[in-house]
Amino acid sequence: MQIAKTIADMKALRTKSLGSVGFVPTMGYLHQGHLALVKQSRAENSVVIASIFVNPTQFGPTEDFKSYPRDTERDLAMLRKERTDIVFMPSAEEMYPEGFNSWVEVEKVTDRLEGSYRPGHFKGVATVVAKLFNIVEPARAYFGQKDAQQALVIKKMVADLNMNLEVIVAPTVRESDGLAMSSRNVYLNLQERQAAIVLFKALTLARNRWEQGERNAETVRQEMTSLISQEPLAKIEYVSIADAQTLEELLKIDRPALASLAVRLGKTRLIDNMLLE
Ligand code: PAJ
Repeated sequence: MQIAKTIADMKALRTKSLGSVGFVPTMGYLHQGHLALVKQSRAENSVVIASIFVNPTQFGPTEDFKSYPRDTERDLAMLRKERTDIVFMPSAEEMYPEGFNSWVEVEKVTDRLEGSYRPGHFKGVATVVAKLFNIVEPARAYFGQKDAQQALVIKKMVADLNMNLEVIVAPTVRESDGLAMSSRNVYLNLQERQAAIVLFKALTLARNRWEQGERNAETVRQEMTSLISQEPLAKIEYVSIADAQTLEELLKIDRPALASLAVRLGKTRLIDNMLLE
């Protein structure tokens, strides 16, 4: 496994890579969710490149950029075990030098959900992913359904800007009790970790009600909200039943829908989602 710490080193290694390149961008502190993307990329490509970069521009001023968990040695050992060929770990100084002034803004789909609670977040995500795509030049890039809106934003960017790669979205990997794996789960104390199951429970309720034939979106939102309200440690940011493509809130669940939510447990903000289709 080769490690590229500068853009020049990454480009040099890329030039020598033969066959299709599969790319898994991450912010590190890896878990089985990230590794599932690496495994799929390994199965589908001749060369696997992963990146580790905690991207400052996608964090708001009051968010957890400084405290975001980092453990490079552990990450590299995990990536080596999955037979990753190249790990790209640029510095923030090189990615965003003095005078950096160009940004990618995906409109509309970024207005809602995460976009409305984290202003500027998707501008940072789209910009860094566009930069990574230009540096790594992958044939395929792998994203998790865990961040459903992010996956939609990246797909839209790739389509609108005619980027020459395929975006692949892989299913959410969960703990045995249903909690979606996330680097941020380490922030949870024991009580919060117990309480965090409520996200999966609310989504499962939505899926069950939909499978039983309930089509009134507001009824489902209310049932999810009332279930979460029974957990005293959980503070809801949003509960959504939206069109799975546009993320517009639905009245009637009469097309593929995304049930999604953002919940705070103490200082930790967790998101999760489930498709109804
Ligand atoms: P990060 O949160 O590290 O996630 C990297 C990738 O892993 C994303 O595509 C995310 O959706 C996926 N992922 C995270 N948890 C998952 C889970 N439980 N199951 C399946 N996939 C999961 O998302 C980012 O980093 C950044 O925004 C990034 C795209 C790297 C740009 O900075």
